[in-house]
Amino acid sequence: MARYLPEPYRIKMVEPLRVTTKEERSAAIRKAHYNLFGLKSDDVYIDMLTDSGTGAMSDRQWASMMMGDESYAGSRSYYRLMDVCDELFGWKFYQPVHQGRAAEHVLFPHLIKKGQVSISNMHFDTTTGHVTLAGGKAVNSVVPEAKDISTYHPFKGNMDTERLVELIEMYGREKVGMIVMTVTCNSAGGQPVSLANIRKTAEIARRYGIPFVIDAARFAENAFFIKEREEGQSDRPIGDIVRDIFKDADAFTMSAKKDGLVNMGGLVGIREDEELFRKARSLVVPYEGFVSYGGLSGRDLDALAVGLIEGIDEDFLRSYIGQTRYLAERLTELGVPCQLPAGGHAVFVDARAILPHVPYDRFPGHSLCVELYREAGIRGCDVGSFILDPDPETGEQPEAEMEFSRFCIPRRTYTQAHLDYVATSLQKVMADSERVKGFRIVKQEKVLRHFTAELEPYE
Ligand code: F0G
Repeated sequence: MARYLPEPYRIKMVEPLRVTTKEERSAAIRKAHYNLFGLKSDDVYIDMLTDSGTGAMSDRQWASMMMGDESYAGSRSYYRLMDVCDELFGWKFYQPVHQGRAAEHVLFPHLIKKGQVSISNMHFDTTTGHVTLAGGKAVNSVVPEAKDISTYHPFKGNMDTERLVELIEMYGREKVGMIVMTVTCNSAGGQPVSLANIRKTAEIARRYGIPFVIDAARFAENAFFIKEREEGQSDRPIGDIVRDIFKDADAFTMSAKKDGLVNMGGLVGIREDEELFRKARSLVVPYEGFVSYGGLSGRDLDALAVGLIEGIDEDFLRSYIGQTRYLAERLTELGVPCQLPAGGHAVFVDARAILPHVPYDRFPGHSLCVELYREAGIRGCDVGSFILDPDPETGEQPEAEMEFSRFCIPRRTYTQAHLDYVATSLQKVMADSERVKGFRIVKQEKVLRHFTAELEPYE
């Protein structure tokens, strides 16, 4: 029987959930045009849409918010956050922004020029969006093991460094604007990247003179996996491993809504390039606000300063990653195929294997999520072809290499009983999956369409 470290916290306040009937849920999803982002949260029982900004803050974080300094310029909260960043990363420049995509927005246009490419282990969808908006193209180079979902590999998020060199040689060094390492690699299933791989990638970036950027949304989880799985790392404090992750990079973007344990926030970090920092700041002022608040309230900056420290607490990480592992093991016991080993923040269920009769352009990952919502009130989301925007030139629907339904685990939020309910509900949906026919899109935007697209089921 799977188990995990009992939560190193207890519940002091609860948020009641509404339990709905299947009829209510069928009506709700129809009204949402079969887009899970269109549902009212009151119609959702267990919300696993994302781990982003959905975790619970600690009593210390709430207390710190009372000390928030709302000064427009030079707020104490800003300086408290800067001190914590210094302690964690040891870099020269940091800029708060309102979330991860804002960090991409203010940084990427200075690294990517029209016609250039960005190469990553895997770009997250907003990252691809901002590369595209800057006039560039996002190219992925994750190790092939990432696509082999049932074979154990400790670091399935690693960059395929041989392929990276091939790609740089193929495009030409001057056409590669940046190399992005996403830790953990969300789109490959929240899979970690090893320190050795980060170092090797940094060495290649340095050799070719290409800026090396870390997408640091889940840096603390990645550090925990390094501690657990990489040779020579098991006795080191998480904080030391975090420093090593950032040691050889030039810049980072961070959605602090994950490992920063806050509901809203983000950061840009720049190791030492003052010119780049000034350029990024020049976009912060018009888009995010003055530099010492960057789109956040003073109290948000304080909550983040505390959250960043709580987020690298080893007991917390052991318990949190234990929850994810527990759910993956329960699903495996029940015969529901999912990415193994489980990643950090989510369980990625293999929708292609469960719905082999639903082709990629009818969105199997999305279809499975809709069925599970109707059955049990659980909300997950597609990480497959549905989240890939059509090719801007041809309008064609790209086919994802993997068709996943993703079920995220918000931090410090749900209990083992919730996870058991998710596992048995998925088993039930899987047993009756033949009648699922997939969806067609009837309305969509050009960029990041999956948030607002309207769909219709095939009958
Ligand atoms: N990078 C990664 C790896 C992410 O997972 C996300 C967001 C972002 C950047 C953008 O950050 O949302 O703060 O603007 N991921 C969320 C998710 C939305 O559900 O995986 P943001």
